[in-house]
Amino acid sequence: MPAEIISGKQVAEEMREEFKEEIEKLKKEHGITPGLAVVLVGEDPASQVYVKNKKIACEKVGINSIEHRLPADYPEDKLIELIESLNKDDKVHGILVQLPLPKHISEVKVLYTILPEKDVDGFHPVNVGKLMIGEADFLPCTPAGIQQLLIRSGTKIEGAEVVVVGRSNIVGKPIANILLQKSDGANATVTICHTRTKDMPSHTKRADILIVAAGKPKAVTANMVKKGAVVIDVGVNRLESGLCGDVDFEAVKEVAAKITPVPGGVGPMTITMLLKNTIKAAKLRIN
Ligand code: GUN
Repeated sequence: MPAEIISGKQVAEEMREEFKEEIEKLKKEHGITPGLAVVLVGEDPASQVYVKNKKIACEKVGINSIEHRLPADYPEDKLIELIESLNKDDKVHGILVQLPLPKHISEVKVLYTILPEKDVDGFHPVNVGKLMIGEADFLPCTPAGIQQLLIRSGTKIEGAEVVVVGRSNIVGKPIANILLQKSDGANATVTICHTRTKDMPSHTKRADILIVAAGKPKAVTANMVKKGAVVIDVGVNRLESGLCGDVDFEAVKEVAAKITPVPGGVGPMTITMLLKNTIKAAKLRIN
């Protein structure tokens, strides 16, 4: 029997409906409209699409979206100044600087400038450290979205063998950390595979939950997946034939019990969790 499809689109819609009510309440009871500042430097086409989608998503749920689109040659010190002014701006609860940045700008320097309490991406080292010790305020958006997909699809995470393919700071490392925590929706046994892993299939074939963020189209094939596994595909590859993930979907869906599609799987969850973090940042300000 082919796998059940985990629809991120549907879960995202459900969660965004819940957010509308929370935001109404924040406005009514505290006079606060959550505000998200999004900074885009340069004209990377994929980044432009992401930023546009973030703005639309904010507007639909009632978050105030403040966009700063800057030219590709914008100087680093001016960008730092902008972030410092957003740090001081009371209407801004969350700040997101779209990555990647142009080569002349240090990503680390920029990310370190964002106040941790406005870091809705969860990329500041204080927030990375808090996640590590189970004290996170803001989980990074894509991994947080993956965890929600697992929970809301009824997947048993506690005690599961989770194998993550990919060790990026944005997906691989944080999702491993999240699912490793001693908490609900976690408590898994986690292995991370990467480009230097010896005999990758020997690891992936053990996985009850296989999370693939390899950055390579169809990197995971059916013979690498255990029968009945839950497969989460984080890849977004633009090929001439259209969008495809890092998993060979057509073949793997015959082996897996559940699988996320591309598009319509993890993608819609990333922006959803950004909205969630922005609402949380606004709420934390009240306290
Ligand atoms: N570029 C790709 N993914 C992300 C993300 O989650 N946040 C930011 N800021 N940039 C990205």
